[in-house]
Amino acid sequence: MKIFLDTANMDEIKKANSIGVIDGVTTNPSLIAKEGGDFIQTFYDICELVNGPVSAETIAQDTQGMVREGELLSQIHEHIVIKLPLTTAGLAACKQLTDRGIKTNVTLCFQASQALLAAKAGATYISPFLGRLDDISHDGVGLIRDIAHIYDNYGMKTEILAASIRHPKHFVDVALAGADVATIPANVFWKLFNHPLTDSGNTRFLHDWSTVPNNNIEQQVQEWLKNRI
Ligand code: G3P
Repeated sequence: MKIFLDTANMDEIKKANSIGVIDGVTTNPSLIAKEGGDFIQTFYDICELVNGPVSAETIAQDTQGMVREGELLSQIHEHIVIKLPLTTAGLAACKQLTDRGIKTNVTLCFQASQALLAAKAGATYISPFLGRLDDISHDGVGLIRDIAHIYDNYGMKTEILAASIRHPKHFVDVALAGADVATIPANVFWKLFNHPLTDSGNTRFLHDWSTVPNNNIEQQVQEWLKNRI
């Protein structure tokens, strides 16, 4: 499963990207608004930083306007993927942009029928929002599972990009459910690394190692290599 970061904050992206496991970035109008500044420059800077797809969302609500905005946004950088809302106008725009070779991410998906239609419109990615479904007592992970099943039934190529992920369990659950990508906020990304048994195990190893005589690995290996020659 690929990991995208769901943020427009350059510091968060830089820090997470330095680990080497980030495959792309998703943004939305709320995330861009939160950061302020020049949004075009923000898209460009993210694209230059991350070696993978970067979603930039259209604002127009009619098909023609979305296609126009999509064509323009896609010229910012080759990494740009055009994010479109899952409306009838959005799906029509998805079809037209796909036909022109522009990659798309159809967002705000809350039921499997919408995901099937997005795949038929040629979407590169479909973004089901599982956290927002869980918020209203629906089964967000179940939706990912259903979409994976339907796409498998028909060999549909659209990638399932699980969005609105709120905690590490969501991340694992969507991996089990067959998501191709999980897009996660930075705070969830850092939580994925942690386990108290990892920390206590590491502390014990360090303590036991401190009882080994001449325990400087670098020094000892260098010396051993020198004596070997
Ligand atoms: O990419 C979509 C995602 O950002 C929505 O997350 O937490 O606003 O439901 P959330």
